[in-house]
Amino acid sequence: MWPSNFYKILSFWYLENKRDLPWRNSDNPYYIWLSEIILQQTRVAQGLPYFLRFSEAFPTVFDLASASEDEVLKLWQGLGYYSRARNLHAAAKMVVSDYDGEFPKTYKELIKLKGVGVYTASAVASFASNEPVAVVDGNVYRMLARIFGIFTPINSSAGEKEFKQLADSLLNVKDASTHNQAIMEFGALCCTPKKPKCIECPFQQNCYSYKEQVVMELPVKLNKTKVKKRYFTYYIIKDTKKMWMHKRGPKDIWQGLYQFPLVVSEKVLEQRDVEKQASKLLGKNCSVVRLVQQNEKAHKLSHQHLFASFYEVELIKLPNASNFEEVPFDQVEAYPVPVLISNFLEGYVF
Ligand code: ADE
Repeated sequence: MWPSNFYKILSFWYLENKRDLPWRNSDNPYYIWLSEIILQQTRVAQGLPYFLRFSEAFPTVFDLASASEDEVLKLWQGLGYYSRARNLHAAAKMVVSDYDGEFPKTYKELIKLKGVGVYTASAVASFASNEPVAVVDGNVYRMLARIFGIFTPINSSAGEKEFKQLADSLLNVKDASTHNQAIMEFGALCCTPKKPKCIECPFQQNCYSYKEQVVMELPVKLNKTKVKKRYFTYYIIKDTKKMWMHKRGPKDIWQGLYQFPLVVSEKVLEQRDVEKQASKLLGKNCSVVRLVQQNEKAHKLSHQHLFASFYEVELIKLPNASNFEEVPFDQVEAYPVPVLISNFLEGYVF
């Protein structure tokens, strides 16, 4: 298939089928970057309300840069992969300090920002200034693998190279913005992971995997990581008006989020161990009062299924050198917490 033909088919399909998404009506690199960071590892349906909330709360990069980390994490709550939110905040500060708040538009400058990789730099540069850099995201891997019959694993270095070269060779350099939007939209709406719409696909005549009936075998991905089960035992320390929480530390997927003292185990803890671990974590004077909730349903993360139990404990004195913060019951909603905890708090009678 000639690149010009590829673009013709793709752009015609895009004009007919594209969704009206707010970041598509703007060439403001700040909004485009914001949308791309939110949409990493996230579907549009889930990311859209977050984009609207962030762009309303922080209409300019100055607003985002001057927000507190707690504010940013709180707005991000529920979207997962919280390092994205911390990098977003750091990048906004960089743009204010290094570029006087003028958001960069070129691949070369964008790639230097925290949290911006090859995909995001290409997306923002092409959407904001039509720079001819091809995007390759999960959607693009899938459709190229299927149409062109590429069996090289997409998560191998050979695969990365091969797909990037193919995407570059297909790119319409005169209209990189539409081309990139269209190729991703096509992967998201037509060449979907499950139940692809091959019957109405405009590439059907040219599609290797359709002809060879191997659509569902592509793309090839090497040994997916196995999901682990983890058991979380949370200890709630409180009095009549407030409770004590602490902020999770660095090198952690939930860095910066607040939580109750926690023990993680590979099996559900028996009562004896619940008490033993409480003393270890909180000192000898700690006694477990009652089990408040034990989740039967897993909280699913990409590589872990978490089963949480919540115990109230009684404590005469907080352990020394603990970094606990007092959280009044009526203010707990303002604290960024993992969804596992916000779900619990919703049903908790203090
Ligand atoms: N996923 C990631 N970026 C996107 C975009 N700009 N439009 C639609 N889906 C996307």
